[in-house]
This record gives sequence, C-alpha cells and structure tokens, in this order.
Amino acid sequence: MHTLGLLLALALLSLALLLAVPPHRELSYGFQRNTTATAASISITPEDGLPYTRRNIHFDSHGTTCDAWLYTPLPPEKLAGADGSGGPAAQFPVVIMAHGLGAQKELGLHRFADGFAGAGLAVMVFDYRTFGGSDGEPRHWVSPTRHLDDWRAALRFVKSGGLGPEYDTHKVGLWGTSYAGGHVLVVASEQAPGSLAAVISMIPHLDGVEASKASVRQRGLAASLRLLGAGIHDRLRAAASDFLQRTAAWLQAQSASQGAMPDQAPAYDRNVSVVGRTGFQRLVPEVERWLRQALLALLPPVGSWPVLEPAYIKVVGLEGELALMQLSPNQLEAYFAKHPKEYEGGWRPVILSRFTLEASSYSPIKSVPRVTAPVLFISALRDQLCPAEKVRKAAELLQTSNSNSSGGSSITGELLELDCTHFDAYLGEHLVAATESMVRFLRRHMQPPADVSVPMSDGMSA
Ligand SMILES: *[C@@H]1O[C@H](CO)[C@@H](O)[C@H](O)[C@H]1NC(C)=O
Ligand SMILES: *[C@@H]1O[C@H](CO)[C@@H](O)[C@H](O)[C@H]1NC(C)=O
Ligand SMILES: *[C@@H]1O[C@H](CO)[C@@H](O)[C@H](O)[C@H]1NC(C)=O
Repeated sequence: MHTLGLLLALALLSLALLLAVPPHRELSYGFQRNTTATAASISITPEDGLPYTRRNIHFDSHGTTCDAWLYTPLPPEKLAGADGSGGPAAQFPVVIMAHGLGAQKELGLHRFADGFAGAGLAVMVFDYRTFGGSDGEPRHWVSPTRHLDDWRAALRFVKSGGLGPEYDTHKVGLWGTSYAGGHVLVVASEQAPGSLAAVISMIPHLDGVEASKASVRQRGLAASLRLLGAGIHDRLRAAASDFLQRTAAWLQAQSASQGAMPDQAPAYDRNVSVVGRTGFQRLVPEVERWLRQALLALLPPVGSWPVLEPAYIKVVGLEGELALMQLSPNQLEAYFAKHPKEYEGGWRPVILSRFTLEASSYSPIKSVPRVTAPVLFISALRDQLCPAEKVRKAAELLQTSNSNSSGGSSITGELLELDCTHFDAYLGEHLVAATESMVRFLRRHMQPPADVSVPMSDGMSA
C-alpha cells in the first residue's frame, strides 16, 4: 500500500514537472490575438484602378468563422466599354486559395491572386481557423486534419452558391502551396469526376514519413526527440488545462447549488427514509456536505487558478534552433521577404507544438491516384523541404492512374520545374514564371468570361 501511494505521488510529481518546466527554453507560451485592423482587411475598390475589386467575406467551418478575401474581376462589358444591359450576366469561375504551414493570406498570396483576378477569375483566399482574420482558439493551430476540414468547408461554401449569383459554382478550382499543395490534392481526390475544373499544387508537401526522415538526418536524433518532446509537453498541458477548467466548472456548480437549496437531500436518499434509515445513514450526507464546504472554502477562488497556456514552437529558425524548419540564413531571409510590415491577428512565426506529433503521418501523395481533375504541379529543383523528385513522381502517378481508369483520357498532370529553392519560388523571376504558367493553365481549364469578350489575337498569345 505504501509503495503504491509513493508511486502515485511520484507520477503526479513528474507530471507536474513536465507541465510546469519548459523542456526547452526556445518554446514560448500563449498567443494573444490582436484584432486591430491591418491593411489585410482594407477593400480594393474600382477607384483603385485595378481590373478587380476585393472585399472580406466569411464562411463557417465547424462552428468557427473563417475570414477570406474575395477578388471579383470588373465585369468584362465594363472593361469593353459596353453598357452591359440585356443578355445573361457573366459568371466568374472561382479559384479557392490558402497558404502553407503556419502562414496566412497576407503573407504573399495577393501576388498570385492579382494575376488570376486580372485574367478574369474570381478568387477566394481564406485563412485557416485560428489564423489571421479567422476566429478560433488556441491560435495558430496547424493540423492537417483541421486544415483539410477548412478546405472542405470553403469548397462546400463556394459550390453551394455562398458567394452569390455572379459566381460560377460549376467552374471551381483549388490552389495550394507548400503544405496546402498537399491539402488540395487530398480534397481533390474526394470529389466526383468533373466537379473540379482545375487544381494547382505548388511546391507541395507530399510525404510525411520522408519529410520526417529528412528532418532527423538534418538535425540529428537528440534534437528530433526534443521536437517530439515539445509536442507531448503541449498536449499534456492542453489536457491538464481542460481538466482544470472542468473541475472549476464543477466546483462552481456545486457552490451555486449549495447556495440555492441548502437543505435538499439528494433524490436517492428519499426512498431510504421511507424504509427507515439508521442514524449513520442519516449522517453520511451531512458529512459529505460539510466536507464539500470545507474544500470549497480551502481552495483558492476559481477565477485565480493558474492558467496553463499552450506551448508554441518556432516555424522557422537557423540550424541548431528548436524550430520546425531549420533554414540557412539565405532561406530565412527569403522566408520573410514576402511578408508585409504588420500582420493581421498579430501573426508570429510560431505554431502549437502539438503539431510535431501529427506531422509524420500525413502523406498526400497517397491520394494522388484518386484525383480526376487536371492538376498543374510546380516544383523547385533545389527544394530541400518538398523535393522535386517527389513532385515528379506525383505528376506521373496522376497521369498513369487516369489513363488506366478512363482508357487514355485527356486529364493531365502538368509539371513546371523552377530552378530555385523552396522559398525563392515566391520571389522575382520564379514568381513571374510560376504565375504565368498558372494563369495559362487556369484560362485553359476554367474559361473566364474575360477571355470570351477579348479576342485571343489582341496581344494575349503569351
Ligand atoms: C422510490 O420508490 C418508489 C416506489 O417504490 C419508486 O417508484 C421510485 O422509482 C423510487 N425512487 C428512487 C429514486 O429510487
Ligand atoms: C496590434 O496591431 C496593431 C496594428 O498592427 C499594432 O499597432 C499594435 O501595436 C498591436 N497591439 C499589440 C498589443 O501588439
Ligand atoms: C496503369 O497501367 C500501367 C501499365 O499498364 C501499370 O503498370 C500500372 O500499374 C497501372 N496503374 C494503376 C494505378 O492501375
């Protein structure tokens, strides 16, 4: 009996230590959302002189409101100078976009959306739950499961006409980069043939096992275990915090009910008294109530209980840092180069550490054979995070599975290989090359109304 008690005490003590002592000084705790408006929530109006407008819209994902930019091209008749009366109104095909791991819409997605909207496509760029302008706590929760649910919610919203009558619910495309380059493939694999017009998967994450192996090779076993330790630490804190909250709620309910009806005996006692209860039996509820009161009086008030903030890990860092992605100084610079001056929601390059426990089990390449929509893959030949060979393999996989199933169909996996690293694909000449080929691909598969009103010979051959 003594041994058992001792073991229990030791287990509780080590649990408390695990929760209280950060396993690594580079973890941070808590994330305060900043709801001050930033440039990300400013609309683009026709007065801005661009070929499109942009406004913020919202949709629901599992009870949480997600924030999105909606780009709408100026109507082609307006561009062509006609009055636009009579005839059916043009409907805009819609491209749905979202960002990669730990990122949100204002971190470089406008550049791509600008090109697509300029080509006559409507574009919806959304933030995952707990990121940017979207609601949800705790903030910055990266999880493939949750992100996929957000993608499905966004697609459902657009497909069900949530954007309004000017938007074509039959011509819908998906665009994802990096981690989201994998998400769009998984979501596309779940759709019926013909229901998606186009998919763009840019420098996509495809294989969780291989990414984890590469990470272990790069940082060594000890550092990799620390990464997992950070994940366990965060999960335990979340569980303990949940337990504390439930206990607090229960205690509050107890003291409230005690104040409301002080002498009411519980229902199960009533029949006992009919039979006739002994003095001892009569005493038990009294003792119980007395104990509860003493306990409530001893405990600090519920509002002053310690709060266990979730543990956050850095998304990027230099070699040797406890960060999800260890980058060279050049790559770190490229990572931040696409960033604005201020961040919606108070963004910082950190995410909940619990992600490290989920990372290795997510491999979107398994979904590729079931994708029936046309896909444009874009890879970076010197990409160390999402290797180009894997992307080539995915493009081949799509090609073979589709030609087998439909007897040589014309559904294609196209591949553009850029001669650069992962984060350089968002900058300069590589960004231009990628966007040009994306626009060509989307025009071909989604036929925006602008293409109808402007003859191809008018300088649009490129
Ligand atoms: C109390 O006894 C009555 C009659 O025997 C029975 O119908 C009722 O279900 C009992 N209530 C409880 C709480 O056991
Ligand atoms: C919230 O964001 C605004 C705009 O970026 C900034 O000026 C302000 O300092 C932020 N507040 C806090 C508490 O960080
Ligand atoms: C498609 O056909 C090729 C050649 O006939 C075969 O090697 C391959 O395994 C098939 N792939 C699928 C996914 O059925």
